Amino acid sequence: QIDGSNLWFAQSQLHSHNHSLQPKSLVVTDMDGKLTLASNELLNGLNQLFQTSIKQKSRVSKGSVWLSLTNNSEVIQFIDPQELKALGEDGFIIKYIDEKKSVLITGNNQKAVLYGVFHYLRLLQTVAIDKDSLNITEIPKYKVRILNHWDNLDGSVERGYAGRSIWKWDELPTKVSPRYKKYARANASIGINGTVLNNVNANPHILTTEYLKKVMVIASELRPYGIQVYLSVNFASPAVLGGLDDANPKKEEVKDWWKNKVKEIYELIPDFGGFLVKANSEGQPGPMDYGCTHADGANMLADALKPYGGIVMWRAFVYNPKGWDRAKQAYEEFLPLDEQFRDNVMIQVKNGPVDFQPREPLSPMFGAMKETQVMPELQITQEYLGFSDHLVYLGTLYQEFLQSDTYAKGKGSTVAKVTDGSIYNHPVSGIAGVANIGEDNNWCGHHFAQANWYVFGRLAWNPDADVKTIAEEWVRQTLTQKDKVVSSIVEVMMNSREATVNYMTPLGLHHLMGWDHHYGPEPWCVVEGARPDWLPTYYHKADSIGIGFDRSSTGSNAVKQYFEPLRSEFDNIATCPEEYLLWFHHVPWNHKMENGQTLWNQLCLKYQEGVDEVKKSQEVWSKMKTYIDEQQFKEVQEKIAIQLKEAIWWKDACILYFQTFSKQPFPEGVEEPV
Ligand code: GCU
Repeated sequence: QIDGSNLWFAQSQLHSHNHSLQPKSLVVTDMDGKLTLASNELLNGLNQLFQTSIKQKSRVSKGSVWLSLTNNSEVIQFIDPQELKALGEDGFIIKYIDEKKSVLITGNNQKAVLYGVFHYLRLLQTVAIDKDSLNITEIPKYKVRILNHWDNLDGSVERGYAGRSIWKWDELPTKVSPRYKKYARANASIGINGTVLNNVNANPHILTTEYLKKVMVIASELRPYGIQVYLSVNFASPAVLGGLDDANPKKEEVKDWWKNKVKEIYELIPDFGGFLVKANSEGQPGPMDYGCTHADGANMLADALKPYGGIVMWRAFVYNPKGWDRAKQAYEEFLPLDEQFRDNVMIQVKNGPVDFQPREPLSPMFGAMKETQVMPELQITQEYLGFSDHLVYLGTLYQEFLQSDTYAKGKGSTVAKVTDGSIYNHPVSGIAGVANIGEDNNWCGHHFAQANWYVFGRLAWNPDADVKTIAEEWVRQTLTQKDKVVSSIVEVMMNSREATVNYMTPLGLHHLMGWDHHYGPEPWCVVEGARPDWLPTYYHKADSIGIGFDRSSTGSNAVKQYFEPLRSEFDNIATCPEEYLLWFHHVPWNHKMENGQTLWNQLCLKYQEGVDEVKKSQEVWSKMKTYIDEQQFKEVQEKIAIQLKEAIWWKDACILYFQTFSKQPFPEGVEEPV
């Protein structure tokens, strides 16, 4: 039964070109049982795909699939030792060995072999393969490929739209939900190797012995799949839990408290990954409360974790209602500290300088911090993109960001390259995704939201991978193998994010959503007592002259934080890409756009374009009925109906409101607001 709970394992059907590839036997060279999990996955996967029962043999012969660690004497005969060494911890090789007429899957440890198995099964399902194409070496670009759960200890999930948390803190450590293993398996299948279990707005109690024992049980469920556990910590923990006077990172007793706590954690969880910290951000405590810097705080924790190989992911999501441009603050606070962080600290930076909007230019932090490892934080949960009600494939958003050129070391210094170790070489590298997972039967609230979890994992493995190919992979594994149907669905996915930008915040507009829940349009919102930088009016600045936030050199000068030629390109209204126009400029209503339309007309037309695109996806989906599982078809259909209604709501609300400033009629082609 396909109901969404099986994620991308739902179909288990071969790609139509691969039927002739049925292996004759499975051979596992495995002296000490290290490859049991990988070989079970492979055997079950192959049996399901080929609808047969493949024999296990002890000798490789014609037509075998052969699993082995690289330290096997036979493997060394076929693959150059240098190549094997280069695989590192997680890389693997899948190779057709002519001499043996067999397919070898190998890696330096059990986790790597497991990744190889999942990749092989994926290939059988998603592309036409043959002997020649089976010559694959895959090495992940990022070392830490991690999910961030914003899950609270009471079972609620901040910005979670798929039900309550999958972590059952009240039942642990006694009762162990079967979902933990399924979760680990799904993550391993797409290359994710870490997870932060709790919200960045961290409850100090996660570090009590009581909770650490619960964490220990989750860690042991996830470990076989190569998933390391990390925790978000509250900087004030030594005071709140330890009874110290404060949490000043310069004080010896505070340092000792953390050292002891870390020791306790590693006694319970020897492969614990480390800490994620939100400090001096949105009211959270931090080192600045004591006149210290982010570096002082991060280094104290890094020193405690260092002996065990743990890391600190220190977030740079900082902004202050007093400054007049929130987008500038992270850079201003962190750049002066660039040379001060320990080498087991990564600064975790959201993709854009404000907050996970449908579209933002890249954060200027990328490429600028050279001495410190910076890790991107992407949001998988759709806080600002219609929650789990709107079909929005985020692959295109992630790709746009990862391929944005920072110009930090000249042309081609993409975000991917300045963070994955290609340009700056630090001992660690990583990428985080804020999870969209909950206890809903289909895990993510919307069937298509699973694709966002999937694409995050695949890009964390290889940020240069093509997101259209990844969408197709997902559709083939999850929904259907029918070629024509696959391409129609992929097209809907590929257009969905641009549609959302258009019906919510076109041309560089941002943060027009309801001010605290972030759902639906509220560009007019005024809330007495609320922080100004939480209100839409702070961002769109519409008035009788025009609309947009002037971040050019005549305004907040945020453009100054970018490398040339980006700085000049963004600064000049004539060269600023139109998709960022109102992000960087306050533009007169009658400004001429590239296509000759006035800004006002173009704005309205963009809103209409967004609505029209959703209508198109509705039409495409309605034709899928005979190809898709009935329940899934219906559930997606209902969600698209909501999305269309709300796209129209967004369009109408925004253009009617902005019209009160522009005082111009709606252009031809724009449906009259209802
Ligand atoms: C956003 C989000 C918060 C979250 C914060 C963060 O502001 O709305 O819920 O805590 O980001 O990333 O820390």
